Amino acid sequence: MKKIIVLTGAGISAESGISTFRDSNGLWEQHRIEDVATFDAWRRNPDLVLEFYNQRRKQLYEVKPNAGHSALVKLEKKFDVQIITQNVDDLHEQAGSSQVLHLHGELKKVRSTVDENLVYTLEGWELKKGDKCEKGSQLRPHIVWFGEAVPMIATAQKLSAEADIYIVIGTSLNVYPAAGLVYYVKKGTPVYLIDPHAEMLPDVKNLTVLSETAGKGVPKLVKQLLAQGKG
Ligand code: APR
Repeated sequence: MKKIIVLTGAGISAESGISTFRDSNGLWEQHRIEDVATFDAWRRNPDLVLEFYNQRRKQLYEVKPNAGHSALVKLEKKFDVQIITQNVDDLHEQAGSSQVLHLHGELKKVRSTVDENLVYTLEGWELKKGDKCEKGSQLRPHIVWFGEAVPMIATAQKLSAEADIYIVIGTSLNVYPAAGLVYYVKKGTPVYLIDPHAEMLPDVKNLTVLSETAGKGVPKLVKQLLAQGKG
């Protein structure tokens, strides 16, 4: 079976009602990164950081996967599909994708502040001050903040190098190391980019750009790949 690697960003969840980060009115226009998404912010003002992620987690319980997420599930009929997502939502899993790697953490999980291996699924949407891990330390969002290492990046690089087809959806390709994954793809591999306002195009040969939203562009590309692909 041919292997398809799909790198997704906030744009694939936009039509589900989750704001992207850098579009106009995106999350980073409403919040300063250094106030809510760094370890320093967590040390200085944990209440604000908890509130920021609590609100996003609460919203996640109110939204559903869209046609873009669902189309990727259909690709599994003929291909070995591995999704690498920068998103912290679980909409790929809710849609039914079976192989999803989260590069930047998961909103519905929390972890110990003293032992990063102690990761738990939070019940409900609210993480509170005083919620502790089994070693007695405060739980924090299971999110890779700016300035923190990206533990899954080596796995993502290895997977990218194994791709027979590479698909990039709804990411501004602003944030490294995720934005560099496409350069691990073997020479000659077809790369597709689906984004209605793509600004940074990866400098690779065999690039096809579909300037459409994920909800429209992904089902089209999936149909095309299923029709032509022997898997
Ligand atoms: N369909 C597809 N793409 C869309 C849609 C849509 N309906 N709407 C917007 N987009 C595109 C935008 O054109 C933009 O290129 O999605 C991209 C969103 O870019 P960002 O907001 O920068 O999100 P992302 O690339 O996922 O950010 C990367 O940065 O803030 C950190 O850790 C956070 O994982 C995040 C990382």
